[in-house]
Amino acid sequence: MKILVTGGCGFIGFHTSKALLERGDEVVVVDNFNKYYDVSLKRARAGLLRGCEIVEVDISDYEAMEKVFEKHSFDKVCHLAAQAGVRYSLENPFVYEKSNVKGTIVLLELCKKFKIKDFIFASSSSVYGSNTKLPFSENDRVDNPISLYAATKKNNEEMAYAYNHLFGLNCVGLRFFTVFGPFGRPDMALFLFTDAILKGEEIKVFNNGDMFRDFTYIDDIIKGVLLAIDSGLKFEIFNLARGEKVQLMDFILSIEDCLGMKAKKKMLPMQPGDVKGTNGDISKARKMLGYNPKVSVKEGVKKFIDWYNEYYSV
Ligand SMILES: NC(=O)c1ccc[n+]([C@@H]2O[C@H](COP(=O)([O-])OP(=O)(O)OC[C@H]3O[C@@H](n4cnc5c(N)ncnc54)[C@H](O)[C@@H]3O)[C@@H](O)[C@H]2O)c1
Repeated sequence: MKILVTGGCGFIGFHTSKALLERGDEVVVVDNFNKYYDVSLKRARAGLLRGCEIVEVDISDYEAMEKVFEKHSFDKVCHLAAQAGVRYSLENPFVYEKSNVKGTIVLLELCKKFKIKDFIFASSSSVYGSNTKLPFSENDRVDNPISLYAATKKNNEEMAYAYNHLFGLNCVGLRFFTVFGPFGRPDMALFLFTDAILKGEEIKVFNNGDMFRDFTYIDDIIKGVLLAIDSGLKFEIFNLARGEKVQLMDFILSIEDCLGMKAKKKMLPMQPGDVKGTNGDISKARKMLGYNPKVSVKEGVKKFIDWYNEYYSV
């Protein structure tokens, strides 16, 4: 298969592209290498994607993206590019409009124009917003996004639904839950905490540590993404989580144990836009995709720290 991966030099996009290449698919990556976080990490990921074309382009640029579609005849599109981050969306709303809303419309339009059959795209656990019923299920209403980021992800699911309805484009949306692992994002907790602890700096612990997340290891997520790519389903939304809630303080303890160092914790109030907890019901993905996450948080944290130490020559 020939697959377009958008955001292919991002954390999840890189691992997805690598896995597709390893199993023999042809991959074309588009990424705009924006400066939201350390661009050298994106370049390093790009350097490891041997045998695939990497096009430096913004997905919101219709003409430039049209050229990519004209040059290649894609079987499927796996759309992982987005402006991520809840906190950043409070200060930079228009980047979210450009990358997440317009960028997704451009891709949907080009899928329609070039008669692409399957569109697999990243959504987020953040669409559950201030819901309190746990675990979060795909059947729950998601009408309470509490950040602009979350609202754009919900919007992506709705736009995909409309394109499926109007033009028969197969769409599978994946609600990822706090993904972590090697080559992970420098703006996310595991990276920030590891970095600060090693430098002897304070870590910021929001809501005084009274938070929990369904931390999901990257290899499990990638298995889920590949199953979704292969599924050929007409329109479905899936939670891709580990299916367990882990308290933030226990997560920090795993990092401390692995590093053999104690964190200096700065306890802070809840940040606007953040949710207290996430936990995904993964029974639908198990049943319909055969998704079966295996890696524990402890194991995953160790794999991340091993990678971090090697990559940054600690
Ligand atoms: N990592 C998580 O825990 C998580 C959780 C929920 C949802 N998601 C979603 O999964 C997807 C991948 O996330 P990630 O963690 O790999 O983030 P990431 O920031 O590492 O990857 C996104 C990539 O997209 C690229 N990009 C952004 N805007 C672009 C644009 N306009 N044109 C072209 N390229 C652009 C970036 O340069 C980056 O390389 C995103 O859609 C994100 O919203 C991630």
